[in-house]
Amino acid sequence: MEEKKERWKIEELVFDKQTLLSLNRIVKKGLIEEINYVVSTGKEANVYRAKAPRGYLAVKIYKIETSKFFRRKKYLFSDPRFNFSVRNERELVYIFSSKEFKNLLLAKKAGVRVPSPIYYEKNIIVMKFLGRKGVPFPLLIDSFRMVEDKEELFFSILNDIRRMHKKGFVHGDISEFNIMFDPEKQRHFLIDFGQGTVRNNPIYVELVERDVRNVVRFFSKLIGKKLSFEEALSYVYD
Ligand SMILES: Nc1ncnc2c1ncn2[C@@H]1O[C@H](COP(=O)(O)OP(=O)(O)OP(=O)(O)O)[C@@H](O)[C@H]1O
Ligand SMILES: [Mg+2]
Repeated sequence: MEEKKERWKIEELVFDKQTLLSLNRIVKKGLIEEINYVVSTGKEANVYRAKAPRGYLAVKIYKIETSKFFRRKKYLFSDPRFNFSVRNERELVYIFSSKEFKNLLLAKKAGVRVPSPIYYEKNIIVMKFLGRKGVPFPLLIDSFRMVEDKEELFFSILNDIRRMHKKGFVHGDISEFNIMFDPEKQRHFLIDFGQGTVRNNPIYVELVERDVRNVVRFFSKLIGKKLSFEEALSYVYD
């Protein structure tokens, strides 16, 4: 008992009561054994590394108290999959988390490399941990110097957008801050799918264009303009 309390270090991690209850259920299910440390603290969510029976998992916990989701209404209420009336902030956060989980499944199905989604409950998403020996891979913004073939990576990311589009799905927040890169295997992963949406959302096209523009902008600085925005977009739309 004493040891368990020590290992959890709950006091330091300051979760609200509901979140603790959910985490407890996740432990009881045997998915994770303990939360190790916080990998990233963001405005809307924190990401933790958790010890699992085999290796590690990543646990993304959306913040309830300081949530700014009402400001992102546009992305939630325009999504035809989530037909709901405005309730409270907490429920909005839950819907956003479930949306990210479903989006991860869709992206994976489209053949894009993402952290495989494992479980979600309320404001918590459990997914594969992207890293080696418990150390997370760097973001592309911090690791592009380690990319051996930048042009190949550019086309590979455009291809991700294309693959998702073929399935009627868009990430909507692709940038060098939401791509992780494994320097050893020279391959990337898309992360942070909360904003992803489907084709019959009125802002779908706007989001596809935003993703393409971000990728073209970032890689143009690295390798020169291989494709204009318009060319990259028609590659995606084919
Ligand atoms: N599956 C994972 N494995 C390892 N690290 C991860 C994983 N998912 C996310 N991370 C790390 O956590 C960071 C934040 O994740 P993510 O981009 O999904 O959250 P976020 O929504 O951007 O948070 P915020 O917008 O509030 O800053 C990532 O930049 C990455 O470093
Ligand atoms: Mg992010």
